[in-house]
Amino acid sequence: MCGIVGYIGSKQAQDVLLHGLSKLEYRGYDSAGIAIFENGGVSLKKSVGRLANLAELVDGPDRITGSQGIGHTRWATHGRPSDENAHPHQDGTGNFTIVHNGIIENYMQLREELTAKGHTFLSETDSEVVAHLLDDMWTGNFFDTVIAVSQRIHGAYALGIMTKHEPGKLIAVRKQSPLIIGLGEGENFIASDIPAILEYTRNVYILDDGEIAVLTADRVETFDLVGNPTTKEVYEVTWSASAAEKGGYEHFMLKEIHEQPRAIRDTLTGRISEDGQNVVFDEINWPAGFAEKIDRVHIVACGTSWHAGMVGKQAIERLTRIPVDCEVASEYRYRDPIVTENTLIIVITQSGETADTMAALREAKLQGSRVLAITNVVGSSAAREADDVIFTWAGPEISVASTKAYTTQLVSLYLFAGWLAQERKTPFVSEIPSILSGLQQLPELAAMALQTESEIESFAKNLADKENAFFIGRGLDYAVSLEGSLKLKEISYMHVEAYAAGELKHGTLALIVEDIPVIAVVTQESLYEKTLSNIKEVKARDAFVLAVAFEGDEEIQKSVDQVITIPRVDPFLAPVIAVIPLQLLSYYASVVRGNDVDNPRNLAKSVTVE
Ligand code: F6R
Repeated sequence: MCGIVGYIGSKQAQDVLLHGLSKLEYRGYDSAGIAIFENGGVSLKKSVGRLANLAELVDGPDRITGSQGIGHTRWATHGRPSDENAHPHQDGTGNFTIVHNGIIENYMQLREELTAKGHTFLSETDSEVVAHLLDDMWTGNFFDTVIAVSQRIHGAYALGIMTKHEPGKLIAVRKQSPLIIGLGEGENFIASDIPAILEYTRNVYILDDGEIAVLTADRVETFDLVGNPTTKEVYEVTWSASAAEKGGYEHFMLKEIHEQPRAIRDTLTGRISEDGQNVVFDEINWPAGFAEKIDRVHIVACGTSWHAGMVGKQAIERLTRIPVDCEVASEYRYRDPIVTENTLIIVITQSGETADTMAALREAKLQGSRVLAITNVVGSSAAREADDVIFTWAGPEISVASTKAYTTQLVSLYLFAGWLAQERKTPFVSEIPSILSGLQQLPELAAMALQTESEIESFAKNLADKENAFFIGRGLDYAVSLEGSLKLKEISYMHVEAYAAGELKHGTLALIVEDIPVIAVVTQESLYEKTLSNIKEVKARDAFVLAVAFEGDEEIQKSVDQVITIPRVDPFLAPVIAVIPLQLLSYYASVVRGNDVDNPRNLAKSVTVE
């Protein structure tokens, strides 16, 4: 995830920017750059790779002197990691210098328009268009020009901008991408995240969505996106520097669980047509006729990504009626699977580096199949080697236990299922507008599901002294149960199993004894009665049953020991919401058991060995 730092004051900007960027390294990045006003011009240095590479470029005699500048760490989105694509970016005249986080959705159109007017672009990024547009729309006044440009760009963005026309001033713009202003004595700062400026000040303005800040060394003024002044309260940061990296949360996992409303919104951004009727996937470039020819789909992945695939299987089958197999990559790669040029292979991998998944991808390509990767990491092996890529845009996931990566994989799979149905003009296309409207409600519903936190925390205290637990569910609820069970076992170290609820009586029921915790996921209306009778089977053996069910479900209240209610959502999309209390449950069980939540024993974030 990209990081922004900006400085204006009397210190050497290079030191402040490099220090600030180093404090954002934990977010992940693939290149970095700084731009500083120096001797009436702007000196710009950027480099692919680690921040140390950039620091070397500006060391000793190459040091940039000046006390106003902007810096950036980039996590590639549009365009591969490279020196050219690294930020800051400038327009052709070098009048404007910008750093940008987020996505400019209409950059292609703007780029074409500006190219026709004679602008030459040096990078593949969506961001560069902002610098050129500022130059093109220059009104003679920095602030007015920024307001005019912000009306023309669509998408999510946080911007830090400076111009040679008005040195001594920095402008910051926030739209759906976080940005804060650090308030110092005779100096002020811009940052995408608090750790970047904590060394210098603990007083900040947290910019609201659609706010602009104009900074000089002595003053900060804020405005809305049409130029009306806004009033801000100073927020005093009381957390330690290491807590600040975690956004004030105790662990990265909890931070990442709470980031899901934002992450889901980012996954959806730019992928639904303005009228809400269609899925848009400009990134998929299939040869003509391929969509119609696909006669089977293989989803291949590991762990949590495989669980996302189980939901994807049901979504694709329902909307396209193409048979879908979903298999763990370590099995698939050695199984000599039957694939033809009409088989679509979907690999799902957060890291884009998992050895087994990559081996399956390579094998499928050798067999002549087309491979679509769903991944979170731009520039990863999966992103480079697949024929087509859907990025999940979850942002860097640092905790080993995957949370926001999973929910954004689900959203990507729902979108893809809808898109494929559109491409094949299946009879189910008529359902797409309502599914899309449901998907757009998910960020808000995810935020509501997060409100189960305190209830879950107290349940986790009781659960944590047990050694065994079971998850049950049917259909999509079974897929979610598998994920809930994996999450709980990997960080609490309890022995946990998930079962298709109807399968219990074929053996596992023998393990159900008094007080054993059974967590039942009950969101699928069409399977409701069936799941209820399985719940009764375990209740009859005196299990302690916790149900995750929709609010207003009176029946379930009578049948179980405790209910965690989640907001109502189309059952087809319920996995995205139902998993949230399960993630919180694993988190709190792990905390109560005193485990290292973010780094569970024996596990690695990216499994690059077989
Ligand atoms: C569990 C978890 C793992 C990963 C698995 C695949 O919380 O994170 O099960 O899902 O190792 O990793 P990726 O998605 O990077 O291929």
